[in-house]
Amino acid sequence: MNVSPQAQASAKATVLEVRDLRTIFRFRGGTLWAVNGVSFSLAAGELLGVVGESGSGKSVTMMSLMKLLPMPPAEIVSGSVRLGERELLGIDPKTMREVRGGEVGFIFQDTMTALNPVFTVGYQIMEPLRAHLGLSRKAARARAVELMALVGIPSPAERLDDYPHQFSGGMRQRVMIAIALSCDPKVLIADEPTTALDVTIQAQIVELVKSLRRELGMAIIWITHDLGVVAGLADRVLVMYGGLVVEHAPVDSLYARPQHPYTRALLETLPRADTEKAGRLKSIGGQPPNLLAPPQSCPFAPRCAYAFSRCHSENPPLFALGGGHDVACWWDIDQGAPRRDA
Ligand SMILES: Nc1ncnc2c1ncn2[C@@H]1O[C@H](COP(=O)(O)OP(=O)(O)O)[C@@H](O)[C@H]1O
Ligand SMILES: [Mg+2]
Repeated sequence: MNVSPQAQASAKATVLEVRDLRTIFRFRGGTLWAVNGVSFSLAAGELLGVVGESGSGKSVTMMSLMKLLPMPPAEIVSGSVRLGERELLGIDPKTMREVRGGEVGFIFQDTMTALNPVFTVGYQIMEPLRAHLGLSRKAARARAVELMALVGIPSPAERLDDYPHQFSGGMRQRVMIAIALSCDPKVLIADEPTTALDVTIQAQIVELVKSLRRELGMAIIWITHDLGVVAGLADRVLVMYGGLVVEHAPVDSLYARPQHPYTRALLETLPRADTEKAGRLKSIGGQPPNLLAPPQSCPFAPRCAYAFSRCHSENPPLFALGGGHDVACWWDIDQGAPRRDA
């Protein structure tokens, strides 16, 4: 395939830029500090994996970008979210609705709540086509059939008038993907889209997204708690813990030389075909971080085998190690000593 110089240049353009995003939940009893200063960027056509245990702030980060959180109790305290030329934080609800499902598509884990049980699948695929792109009923119907075929739903024309419950879990996820892709988004955010599916179907959905990405070229944020899934999928990976990015690296660099003790621990929980029975997961010892106070020390320190005094008193910033590999850790794991540039 020939790629023009313009296409190569635009392939590197930043489509999404998130800076210092902070989101809290206010309750009568106190405040939950869910996202505590997350920054990242996404280049056109790139696939960014976001990993971390349950509760690390992955979903709240992405829902904050799209203003999908209930506010209150949620409150975006600070940050900037640029989609192309536009700042998204603070735009009016109507423009935000145009962005959602137009420029940005979303796929969720739970298709049963994301899809409306009382409308046919065809209606739900056609609705954004009519609302965002202004297609006629007939044109939307034709496009819906194309989209269903694109995501691998057999006999799409006959399935258009079926309801979500008439589809299997894997097929419902394909419907969600068809809806997310309907308006040709620049960015697709997939929040644990395969978690509820069995392993075989999971692999099929991953293959589908890979091929769609080759075909359509949109940028993708793929959220998962499973580092194994992102290994074969992502260009870059963000590792989140306690509402913070603790490591950020090109995928090969992350797997070859993980620098954060938490990333190492996550990698060690992956079942290895050679030494362990397949499917058996180890878990990381200790408790998840307390989010009822803002992080004033490293949130991983209480569980960390390398932690020393500074880790318990000061939260480390992200240190750039070169080659796009960043880590938020006071300990230099390669040198076996406190980080020298810190
Ligand atoms: N709607 C909500 N109301 C209150 N707290 C929430 C809500 N959604 C998420 N949280 C809390 O925010 C923290 C981060 O959650 P989340 O982003 O969903 O984690 P992840 O997606 O990484 O599993 C968790 O402590 C979670 O309980
Ligand atoms: Mg989540």
